[in-house]
Amino acid sequence: MKFFIDTANLAEIKEAYELGILDGVTTNPSLMAKEGITGQENILNHYKAICEIVDGPVSAEVIATDFEGMVREGEVLAALHKNIVVKIPMITEGLKAIKYFSSKGIKTNCTLIFSAGQALIAAKAGATFISPFLGRLDDISTNGIDLIAQIRVIYNNYTYDTEILAASVRHPMHIIQCAEIGADVMTGPLKAIKALANHPLTDSGLQQFLADHAKGTK
Ligand code: E4P
Repeated sequence: MKFFIDTANLAEIKEAYELGILDGVTTNPSLMAKEGITGQENILNHYKAICEIVDGPVSAEVIATDFEGMVREGEVLAALHKNIVVKIPMITEGLKAIKYFSSKGIKTNCTLIFSAGQALIAAKAGATFISPFLGRLDDISTNGIDLIAQIRVIYNNYTYDTEILAASVRHPMHIIQCAEIGADVMTGPLKAIKALANHPLTDSGLQQFLADHAKGTK
């Protein structure tokens, strides 16, 4: 499973990259705003700065909600760097834009997926990635992981090339469950990724080894 980090924070992206496990980055307009990145020029420069840190797909989302606007914005984003993936919302105008970009060889990430039907139609349109938001489904007392599993079955039935990018990951168990199901990619916060490395028995075992070594060297 590929690991993407879901942030626009350059320090966090660098830290994740230095861990040696980072395959890509996802952003969204809320994450960009959280970092205080506003204005067209600053936004485009920020995407370029992210692409300079990590050599892998970097999702950059369009703001327009009409086909022509999405194409216009997406072409500007895609021209920034070879690793830019144009992130497009799951609406009917978005499907048309995905089809357009797919025919031009430009990668897309269809975002805000909350049902298997949406995942199916986005794959039909030629999306490179689809982003089912599992944490937000959990937030409304439904099971986000079940949706990832359902999409996996559907994509396997028809051998779609579209990759399942499990998004809105909130904690390490989400990551493990996504890996069990066979999600192609997960995107989540640095905290959830780093938590995978922790175990109290590792910590106590290491302390014991170091203490025993220190005794032996006296
Ligand atoms: C996906 O690409 C989104 O940026 C993200 O995963 C949404 O996560 P959230 O529900 O934690 O905001």
